[in-house]
Amino acid sequence: MRIYVWGTGCAAGDLIDAGLAIGQVTAFLDSETDGGSFLGRPVLRPEEADTHGEYLVLVASRHVEEIARQAAACGIGEERLLFLRDNWRLTDRNTDYGRAREVLPPALLAALRNPPRAIRPLPPRPGSPLTERDLEGDYVRVRTLELLCAGLGDVPGAAAELGVYRGSFARCINALLPERTLYLFDTFEGFDPAEAQGQGGGFVEAHRNTSAETVLRLLPHPEKAVIRQGLFPATAEGLEERFALVSLDVDLEESTLAGLRFFLPRLSPGGCLLLHDYNNPRLPGVRRAVERWEAEQGRLRAVPLCDVNGTLAILV
Ligand SMILES: C[S@@+](CC[C@H](N)C(=O)[O-])C[C@H]1O[C@@H](n2cnc3c(N)ncnc32)[C@H](O)[C@@H]1O
Repeated sequence: MRIYVWGTGCAAGDLIDAGLAIGQVTAFLDSETDGGSFLGRPVLRPEEADTHGEYLVLVASRHVEEIARQAAACGIGEERLLFLRDNWRLTDRNTDYGRAREVLPPALLAALRNPPRAIRPLPPRPGSPLTERDLEGDYVRVRTLELLCAGLGDVPGAAAELGVYRGSFARCINALLPERTLYLFDTFEGFDPAEAQGQGGGFVEAHRNTSAETVLRLLPHPEKAVIRQGLFPATAEGLEERFALVSLDVDLEESTLAGLRFFLPRLSPGGCLLLHDYNNPRLPGVRRAVERWEAEQGRLRAVPLCDVNGTLAILV
């Protein structure tokens, strides 16, 4: 069977590196080629491909829609196309892997059959204390935290979370920064009723369902935790600390603003404050708090993340 590879870029190179023998490749296809060769094989324009008899076109490019159109225009049937690059990404156009079994190395075929993922995960960090369960809720948020913590090095200061609830994110901070004190600020009885007025009853009630003991039981290094129970910012009074890593996750405007006012001046250079829900349309008070802080103090240096609830990573 003749094998054509559509594409002469990185994805085509990856395909060979993934185990497709270059000797199997009849030619590469490229709609903009002037001829020549790629990896020692000829490069043809798609209309130059021999479309008689048995052949398969491995599409190693992310421009799938355009390639599907061009292929149809050159008489290459959809059933001859195997979209490889796209399968490694967002959508799966392939319905028949029968021919692929004949030509692809088993590892590549297995990768192709895996459900497509919107996010291709980073390889796990060797020795990471994070568990599958830690990563289940919000992969991007937790892996970003992991990378940030790994990069803190000798940035001085403690870690803190304002808005702990049942401690699932606090658990990750504590696991990733086992040497640092971890301040945990929460009422552990839900929101300030005055501030939460207008929020849904279910949302308010659900956040009452926790306790400091529940959180401490979850931590791998509870001896590093300092519980500051009660309404913030009163619970921070008298605290003289610098911080290397802060998670601010209180959902509502006034408490978020209080958190920014307290923690940002105490954040060490090289440290980071992760503000949860900044790009969460269901909690618009968080963004309003940032706007008020910026109106008072000037523009923040910050990177928005594409995690589930739109965290803002604030740097100093
Ligand atoms: C969304 S939950 C935190 C979730 C947690 N960070 C996590 O990722 O699992 C918000 C928490 O903020 C707490 N909270 C909100 N305003 C507060 C305030 N002013 N003082 C203390 N805790 C507050 C609530 O009690 C609630 O537990």
